[in-house]
Amino acid sequence: MAPCVNVSIDPAAQFVSDVRAGLCKKGQKELPSKYLYDPLGFALFEAITLLPEYGLTRADERLLRRHAKEMVGHVPSPALVSELGSGSGRKTRWILSALCECEPVAYYPIELSRAALDTCESELGDVGCVSIVGVEREYLDGLREVAALRGDGAGLLVLFLGSTIGNFDAGADARFLSEVRSVLAPGDGLLLGTDLLKKPERMLEAYDDPLGVTAAFNLNLLGRINRELDGEFDLRQFEHAARFNEATSSIEMHLRSKRRQVVHVRRGGFAATFAAGETIWTESSHKYTRREIAELAVACGFRVEAQWVDDEWPFAENLWVAV
Ligand code: AVI
Repeated sequence: MAPCVNVSIDPAAQFVSDVRAGLCKKGQKELPSKYLYDPLGFALFEAITLLPEYGLTRADERLLRRHAKEMVGHVPSPALVSELGSGSGRKTRWILSALCECEPVAYYPIELSRAALDTCESELGDVGCVSIVGVEREYLDGLREVAALRGDGAGLLVLFLGSTIGNFDAGADARFLSEVRSVLAPGDGLLLGTDLLKKPERMLEAYDDPLGVTAAFNLNLLGRINRELDGEFDLRQFEHAARFNEATSSIEMHLRSKRRQVVHVRRGGFAATFAAGETIWTESSHKYTRREIAELAVACGFRVEAQWVDDEWPFAENLWVAV
């Protein structure tokens, strides 16, 4: 098991409070997408990445596999590499192996889930000359901690792969990337994966697969509320819905109530009422244009060093340098 930095917030209390706020809200009900990833949700997401309709992860991996050497050649050899949301760590192998050809690397994956850090550690444990220290924290808190560990003049490379940035609310992506920049020193690198805008039909298939894996991933959030908060959701009375919001250039995932119903969440001390057809908004996945990415870099205090785009599934790997 990877050594780990202690968590100071109480995630259980935060979960209750976010669920209550999101389900008792007037207008569009919502739940933060980060809660999709309990151990079962994490496993279902891993299954999504294998679906023929979901090309995003394969594109991300192809780019990293093909261009890792070139990518690391653009950043002066960093002493520290930190990854925001390591996932299984499968994709990171290429970057770490390429860096290892020059010198030993200290790798700090940052994740809220202990299970994800454990998977990452066992996936990457065999990459020579990499020391892995898992950081069980929110991204920015974790990154501040990692940045504080570096010695004078040591470079830092931050990895934010898989287009997780697209799951931030509108405007929150820029605020988050600016915060990341504020932790970095000039010359530090950020390797950012972004899914690109493509035909709506292709995107919708990816988020509403015929096998129903994405539906299970989405519905598991209600299952998690049942398990952890003593909720009484009948999962058969909700259905998964994916839609493309043209105005925000995002695929949205919702859970639609099949009938009018009242659901008690005992540990939260509340009941939520649903009209027939009413939805809970559970995730947005923004799809970027190349121009938007370039503007975002400048607005957040970076310069674009290089970009690689997959030719099968429009997806871009962007190497930004802090200015
Ligand atoms: C993690 N994230 C980039 C995925 C996405 O495509 O937005 C999460 C996901 N949601 C449904 N399918 C995959």
